Amino acid sequence: MSDLHVDYLGLRLRSPLVASAGPYTGDLDRMSEIEQAGAGAIVLPSLFEEQIEHETSEIDRLFSLHQDSFGEASSFLPEIDGYNTGTDAYLALVEAAKYRVDIPIVASLNGTNVGGWLRYAKLLEDAGADAIELNLYTVAADAAINGDAIEAGQLELVALVAEEVNLPIAVKISPFYSSLASFLFALQDAGAAGVVMFNRFYGPDLDMETLDVQPRISLSSQAELRLPLRWIGIAREFLSMSIAGSTGVHTGQDAAKLILVGADVAMTTSALLFHGTNHLATMEAELRDWMQEHGYRSVSEMRGAVSRDAAADPAAYERANYIGNITSYTSRFLGAQSIGLQRK
Ligand SMILES: Cc1cc2nc3c(=O)[nH]c(=O)nc-3n(C[C@H](O)[C@H](O)[C@H](O)COP(=O)(O)O)c2cc1C
Repeated sequence: MSDLHVDYLGLRLRSPLVASAGPYTGDLDRMSEIEQAGAGAIVLPSLFEEQIEHETSEIDRLFSLHQDSFGEASSFLPEIDGYNTGTDAYLALVEAAKYRVDIPIVASLNGTNVGGWLRYAKLLEDAGADAIELNLYTVAADAAINGDAIEAGQLELVALVAEEVNLPIAVKISPFYSSLASFLFALQDAGAAGVVMFNRFYGPDLDMETLDVQPRISLSSQAELRLPLRWIGIAREFLSMSIAGSTGVHTGQDAAKLILVGADVAMTTSALLFHGTNHLATMEAELRDWMQEHGYRSVSEMRGAVSRDAAADPAAYERANYIGNITSYTSRFLGAQSIGLQRK
């Protein structure tokens, strides 16, 4: 029987298959199903910076409105605490999740500005989270702010959260950095215990009748695995922090690919939404089958076996791969066309 145990963010997980943040991971019954299906850990849906800041400003507004009528303004605090706000509900979810399942629970904060909301990291720790995933989702749309400034702000944020809590921090990033390798290294220096590669961006769409710009979510496809595959393969050799592969993991073999290039865990959301939470058990069986067929006794033996530094052809991760892809496609395509012509 192959050994699936892995270390991720300093936590010992029974499996490298992790349920990433999504609709199912915010529901206690689904969490139990995910645990029963064999997941190594669960990442909760994110608590958003905007949500927290909005509530804080609402609370401040209420607080100042009534300050004059009540000498002891602080007497309002217990009432405010009792609101069933999103943030309170989130902390309650962390507590309930810890009660319901035995596998590690990773809480998720989603924000990019240094602000008052950061104190929530401490509250998540107090609520019992085993780790925090900090999602740095941003769209760098301000022409007056250059890449250095954006990255400096993000690194400061990571350092502040890491300082605030005694929990390991994983940072979920996009692939859109001018020098991703250098940013990854800086993240580790800033105190991140791990990185999740990558966030998936949902571009807006246009309604062609109303011309409204609309949000539209589509689930991932397996083809999207190629991006984390390349970058994890490149980054494994110079990062000592944990690496989670995310986006496009739909099968046990997809997870095996990520582990082979150097990931510690493989995360999945879309596949569970397509097939249900029990799909994790299918993925585990596929992973075990592949390991057995290829002579791997443990996931730790597989990890990084074909990362860039270990691969027979390191150039396959870089520019040579791009050139190889387009030339082989073109010759195959033209070859197919000429066969077609001959047959006519
Ligand atoms: C409906 C939906 C909700 C999601 N909510 C969150 C979220 O709250 N926080 C987060 O970091 N990622 C969220 N994600 C992104 C997933 O965690 C994951 O990174 C993304 O779907 C790519 O992985 P996949 O290819 O396995 O789906 C969400 C994805 C979906 C489809």
